[in-house]
Amino acid sequence: MNGPLSNHVILVTGAGRGIGRATAELLAKRGASVGVVDVNEMDTASTVDAIEAAGGKALGLPTDVSDRAVLMAAAAQLATSFGPLTGIVNNAMWIRYGPVADIDETVLDRMLAVGVKAAFWGVQALLAHGSDRGGAVVNICSPVADLGMANTASYTAVKGAIASLTRQLAVELGPRGIRVNAVTPGAVPTPGARAIVNEEGYALRRKQTPLGRTGEEAEIAAGIAFLLGPDASFVTGEVLHVDGGISVKSM
Ligand SMILES: NC(=O)c1ccc[n+]([C@@H]2O[C@H](COP(=O)([O-])OP(=O)(O)OC[C@H]3O[C@@H](n4cnc5c(N)ncnc54)[C@H](O)[C@@H]3O)[C@@H](O)[C@H]2O)c1
Repeated sequence: MNGPLSNHVILVTGAGRGIGRATAELLAKRGASVGVVDVNEMDTASTVDAIEAAGGKALGLPTDVSDRAVLMAAAAQLATSFGPLTGIVNNAMWIRYGPVADIDETVLDRMLAVGVKAAFWGVQALLAHGSDRGGAVVNICSPVADLGMANTASYTAVKGAIASLTRQLAVELGPRGIRVNAVTPGAVPTPGARAIVNEEGYALRRKQTPLGRTGEEAEIAAGIAFLLGPDASFVTGEVLHVDGGISVKSM
């Protein structure tokens, strides 16, 4: 497919469903060859099928992103199939909410491994298997990095780290021609989010969102695609809020 992302090779983590899947599909529609990475093998295959059925190019790479060696191998395989990587979207996440007093060490370790450590491995994969034309990283953040919310201490620690890391990496990797940005989605009722937010929670989020509604997966994907593409060529270190305004504290 021809489009603004033709000649781009982009790895998207957590692309088996939700925001990651919508992103993989949009990037392919805009011409990119997409590495579909997800720990769920069936969902990985399903995303690849959808992209190919629409005429796009994708490679399914069932991978646990918290395992550095496995993610590096997936990136190497993508580069062998389609050429050096031009971008990575660090989107995969595994979430449990709960009071800080009850946080279990195994659960905390898993959230930090999938949410924070894997973002380091993603960046290292781009550096090892990326194009010498430079590249782009998009990390996925959350409104909890800006606003306090009860029962989300471990998730907040993950996303706060991601926001800070995005700015730091923009400074460190800018001289190599690598732009590093993040997208903060608002409330989007994906399969993963629906498992932890009930209808009452969504009613509250709609009330707190100036646009008065939840977001669509495709709307978040559009922000991510913008940051990866040529229209964002002078944008780095930015945390782009695609959140209906929920991060703007309103009275
Ligand atoms: N949906 C929202 O309301 C919302 C709001 C703010 C931020 N976010 C962020 O957006 C991103 C996507 O969220 P979503 O709502 O689409 O979630 P989701 O749970 O629907 O999808 C996440 C995907 O990541 C995969 N995944 C989990 N652990 C993995 C691992 N170890 N290795 C590889 N893949 C793994 C899952 O299998 C799943 O396909 C996350 O970073 C999340 O924190 C979502």
